[in-house]
Amino acid sequence: MKHFLNHPFKAIKAYLPKSMFGRSLLILMAPLVLVETISAYVFFDNHWENVTKALANNIAGEVATITELYNAIPEDSHFFKGVAGTHLKLRTAFIPHKKLNKSVPEEWKDTALDSALKSQIFNPYTFKIKQKDIIITTEVENGLLQFTTPRKRLQSKSFFLFIIWVSATSALFLCISAVFLHNQVKPLRRLAIAAERFGKGRTSPHFKPEGSTEIRKVSQAFLNMKERLQRQLTQKTEMLAGVSHDLRTPLTRMRLQLAMMPLSSETEGLQKDVEEMGKMLEGYLTFARGEGLEETSDTDINGLILEAIKGRMHPEVNVHYTPQELPVLGVKAQALKRCLMNLINNAARYGHEVWVSTSPAPEALTMVIEDDGPGIPEDKFAEVFQPFFRLDGSRNMATGGVGLGLSIARDIAHSHGGDIILSSSKDHGGLKASLVLPY
Ligand SMILES: Nc1ncnc2c1ncn2[C@@H]1O[C@H](COP(=O)(O)OP(=O)(O)OP(=O)(O)O)[C@@H](O)[C@H]1O
Ligand SMILES: [Mg+2]
Repeated sequence: MKHFLNHPFKAIKAYLPKSMFGRSLLILMAPLVLVETISAYVFFDNHWENVTKALANNIAGEVATITELYNAIPEDSHFFKGVAGTHLKLRTAFIPHKKLNKSVPEEWKDTALDSALKSQIFNPYTFKIKQKDIIITTEVENGLLQFTTPRKRLQSKSFFLFIIWVSATSALFLCISAVFLHNQVKPLRRLAIAAERFGKGRTSPHFKPEGSTEIRKVSQAFLNMKERLQRQLTQKTEMLAGVSHDLRTPLTRMRLQLAMMPLSSETEGLQKDVEEMGKMLEGYLTFARGEGLEETSDTDINGLILEAIKGRMHPEVNVHYTPQELPVLGVKAQALKRCLMNLINNAARYGHEVWVSTSPAPEALTMVIEDDGPGIPEDKFAEVFQPFFRLDGSRNMATGGVGLGLSIARDIAHSHGGDIILSSSKDHGGLKASLVLPY
């Protein structure tokens, strides 16, 4: 309640439909219902009263006429009764030698019928309204006259008819517009799905611009953007692959020349640098070769993890993994295997044992790789993802890493719309790398 008072619009918003279809339908429906309610209220409040008054006046007039006639010429009473019964729908009965001892009951006082009777009948009268009939009793000279008339005469049907007609036609038109609206929103929904798939590196071969001009334009802009992004990506990878490839030849030449030089501490240092450069280039080339071309396909993730474990660089390091039932996912299988392998290789390289586990959640599948190595300091979590970045130069020299593993792994995770999150492993003391893949 407090929240409602402080932020009335926000609170109302929480109850409004979230989807475009729901909102459009509401925009269409709200004025319709509002106009109908206002017109029914304004028009019928007035009209209803007038109609009821007129109907009551009719009945009162008839009753008054018969009563007057009876008072004036009581000997012709049979004739009036006949006329009233056939033409006025008034059944009349005469109760002789009685006086009226009741007045109008409290609940009917000052109703339309009471006012009408009061203004037209100058004798004492009373009436009661039963389920089907109205019974009006008036006093005449030597007794009472009792009139019975159907209650329906006091009610107007037009109000209910109006409401029924208006509601029924509105409901019908609403159904028709809902169908059309649904069709209008469909292309937008398709565009959203295509954009989401693109974000996860999946293709939508059947997607094409359709629907209204605006949605078509957005769809076309999306397709253009997608093409441009893909072109840029392949261009960049191709260019870098070209550079790496071109550098390989002079590097090989340098290696040969160094081998022919007399051994000294300088040539040894140079040789190490050249070796390292060669490794970097190889690393980059393997990365550039595989990327960009692979299409997504439905893949058994369990099998992929097992393959990645089998293909690790250090088979002597123990990897613990208990396979569990995992959903089939549309992924770039080779790329994802490489990503997993890079993480497992890191864990195996820097730790003594490796633990791989999976946890499927409703929105994403998380694969966790943990080790019992030295781990990474928290303030370096961001930096280690940079290409050719290594934590500790001397340590890495010995282990022989290039510094591309994590960058490549994260690139692959991103191309699937996912990410790699680093933390320290609570159970094993080393690094914990979580690869999150959305479905
Ligand atoms: N499991 C780990 N435990 C400790 N340090 C790690 C771990 N994984 C990565 N690192 C640190 O992060 C740095 C970057 O890792 P990355 O995988 O990118 O490169 P690399 O393993 O050195 O080389 P390569 O390109 O061969 O994988 C590593 O040099 C290492 O210092
Ligand atoms: Mg590595």
